Amino acid sequence: MATWSNLNLQNGASPLMEQMIFFHDHTLMILIMITILVMYLMMNLFFNKFINRFLLEGQMIELIWTILPAITLIFIALPSLRLLYLLDELNNPLITLKSIGHQWYWSYEYSDFNNIEFDSYMINNNDSLNKFRLLDVDNRIILPMNNQIRILVTATDVIHSWTIPSLGVKVDANPGRLNQTNFFINRPGIFFGQCSEICGANHSFMPIVIESISMKNFINWIHN
Ligand code: CUA
Repeated sequence: MATWSNLNLQNGASPLMEQMIFFHDHTLMILIMITILVMYLMMNLFFNKFINRFLLEGQMIELIWTILPAITLIFIALPSLRLLYLLDELNNPLITLKSIGHQWYWSYEYSDFNNIEFDSYMINNNDSLNKFRLLDVDNRIILPMNNQIRILVTATDVIHSWTIPSLGVKVDANPGRLNQTNFFINRPGIFFGQCSEICGANHSFMPIVIESISMKNFINWIHN
């Protein structure tokens, strides 16, 4: 989960999020290189006294500074496309979880197991400081780690967004639509998320919590 004054991405807890962090870092490196180059060039332009009175055109330099950015963009576009299609790929999900956005809470359905369903409300924990303030819910999602999991997202009233940063998931929940995404949690733990469509007065108070546990414990939970 995010902690105080963390300006970076949260640690990736799924292979896709790791890939997205790599892509982010890659793009940021290119951005920094361009920024430094442009800053250097501007400094040079500002602090010299050279004037070329006969300058009318410079075909060669214009050719270079048109083609160079185009090539740079390719180095961003190709990994971006790779990631885009990788995110969309669904390979034999073992479990499907349906999450439904309401004003202002989430409800979940495990359609694979005799249709287990429950609501997930934020806990009002002003009194207990050991809980996660504004992030914890009364009924957490339980999912097994090291498994391909499919998420179906929809809503009943307005647009919400089912978002978990550490798993690299962000899917809008639209009334009358069923959106699909998937992830693979590669470690046990608790993963927090929040709604990220401005959905109304209590938009900030419909968090999402996933408890990632072993398959054995998950089956135990399902039995109960
Ligand atoms: Cu639901 Cu914002």
